[in-house]
Amino acid sequence: MPKNPSKRFNQLAPYVFSIQDAKKLKLKAEGKRIIDLGMGSPDLPTPKHIVDALIEAVSNHSETHRYPNSKGLPKLRESIALWYKKRFNVDIDPEREVLPLIGSKEGIAHLALAYIDPGDYTITMNPSYPAHYNGTFIAGGQVFFLPLREKNDFVPDLSEIPNSVLNKTKLMIVSFPHNPTTSIVDKDFYKSVLDLAEKYDFIVVSDLAYSEICFDGYKAPSLLELDGAKERVVEFNSFSKTFNMAGWRIGYVVGNQEIISKLAQIKSYIDYGVFEAIQYACISALNGPLDEVKKTVETYRRRRDVFISTLNRYGVYPKVPKGTMYVWLRVPEGYTSQEFSNKLLEEKNIVVSPGDSFGKHGEGFIRVALVADESLILEAGEAIGSMYIR
Ligand SMILES: Cc1ncc(COP(=O)(O)O)c(C=O)c1O
Repeated sequence: MPKNPSKRFNQLAPYVFSIQDAKKLKLKAEGKRIIDLGMGSPDLPTPKHIVDALIEAVSNHSETHRYPNSKGLPKLRESIALWYKKRFNVDIDPEREVLPLIGSKEGIAHLALAYIDPGDYTITMNPSYPAHYNGTFIAGGQVFFLPLREKNDFVPDLSEIPNSVLNKTKLMIVSFPHNPTTSIVDKDFYKSVLDLAEKYDFIVVSDLAYSEICFDGYKAPSLLELDGAKERVVEFNSFSKTFNMAGWRIGYVVGNQEIISKLAQIKSYIDYGVFEAIQYACISALNGPLDEVKKTVETYRRRRDVFISTLNRYGVYPKVPKGTMYVWLRVPEGYTSQEFSNKLLEEKNIVVSPGDSFGKHGEGFIRVALVADESLILEAGEAIGSMYIR
């Protein structure tokens, strides 16, 4: 049996959450009660009308049990286009400019296989969501990591990208509200990204997974709102965060039809698309009442406030996020991200994500996912805050 996996495989770091999961499982096996604020996996239930739509589709449409059509149900594509019109005032052609995905992560990672050759670059942020670079590594390409710095409010400075990289860039991935730093951008920032992309002729990929998880009146814009964006932009979105459907595995991409058709072709060699009963449930998610989405956002807002005000009592003042369900927190002096996260796990039984696991510019931070009841968030806030007192 061949012993060595591919060079491509060896280049990949162990997935952030698999390392943590091993430690977590060990503590659980020892009978410890863990507060798990590690993964951004929503703890709130999927709204009932969506679950009911799934049950109905599974029970009544026997055709849903067959292989799905990989383009997705026409009614789902229409519903996504309508959502984009209502939410962003962006016109999307449901026939050619939408593709449902088995989660947006799947689509983002596979897109690199359609566009990246060895020697080609993808530009992404550092720190960032791992699918924003691992897809390119799997495709054998290079990644240029654009640092996100606290002094710039974790918004990238595009002038830091060297011309030598820009000349070889095929894809640039932007994602705001940002995981893990929680930073946000305005349309002027998107305009500079688009100008750069036009000058150097590359594709812009926007990952808008947290578009609806926004607070204090902030509404995340879509890159597709910009004039001419559809020439070179594809935007990914997800049902995972908006509708608490992370385990259902469904997302979608909208935008430039040629790029979407290449992604669809790559996927056609690998998968058959999304289980149609799940697609029916998503039609009901997009067209149904949005009260539950509002409640979800309000729940995260309350948890954010409880967590941050608790930390404030210990003299700790992290940035108050306007979006995402995370808090990005500088670790106390004298610790690395890993050391502090390990200490929290071992001494306080709290799981958080070490900032460096999203890239080296995440060093010195932890990401706290607000995915537990308010009482547990309060308890975690007290326990974490107390670690800053020396
Ligand atoms: C920025 C970002 N994009 C995409 C995803 C994954 O979304 P999906 O569940 O649709 O694959 C996540 C999940 O945490 C994320 O943080």
